[in-house]
Amino acid sequence: KSIVILVSGRGSNMQAIVDAAIPGVHIAAIISNRPDAGALGFAAERGIASAVVDHKAYSDRTAFDAALVECIDRFEPDLVVLAGFMRVLTDDFVRRYDGRLINIHPSLLPSFPGLHTHRRALEAGVRVHGATVHFVTPTLDCGPIIVQAVVPVIEGDDEAVLGARVLAQEHRIYAQAVRWFVDGRLRLDEAGRVRVADAV
Ligand code: GRF
Repeated sequence: KSIVILVSGRGSNMQAIVDAAIPGVHIAAIISNRPDAGALGFAAERGIASAVVDHKAYSDRTAFDAALVECIDRFEPDLVVLAGFMRVLTDDFVRRYDGRLINIHPSLLPSFPGLHTHRRALEAGVRVHGATVHFVTPTLDCGPIIVQAVVPVIEGDDEAVLGARVLAQEHRIYAQAVRWFVDGRLRLDEAGRVRVADAV
């Protein structure tokens, strides 16, 4: 299966997926909306194709998304993976990749959608926090949940310490979710929830 990974920054989740060397997965390309994303250097080192679609070069979201679609579709991916891709996508974009667009979010959804999740978790005084991989639907951070990881919130944690604890789990569950997808094990039940079928 062919995968395109969309990034905006350092790309540690993207690296975790690449390094997982999942059988049957071909990383067709890394696409960044920022020309200075650290992730692009990693792609170059590994000989992975990369492209930049700079959102600043487009007048609005629709024009940017159209350019992004054109870039993605050149690689004919079976799965599009958002890995720290910090742009909100239009409904048309999301619908185009229905069932083959996944995202990782650094909280236990449906708690703390949106930004600054670790700070908000600390402010709320939750005892557990974590990360979620989900299918992307038009409502932000709201699609069917594929896998979650839980971490404890420990007395004295600050945003950075808690964020690092969560990030280590992100790397583990994102590779897991990709593995399930390419193995054809993800199904939606009648209520729209994800079921992970047994391995064959
Ligand atoms: C991750 O915490 C991801 O969950 C969030 O942005 C961060 C991206 O980190 N949406 P990286 O670029 O994968 O290192």
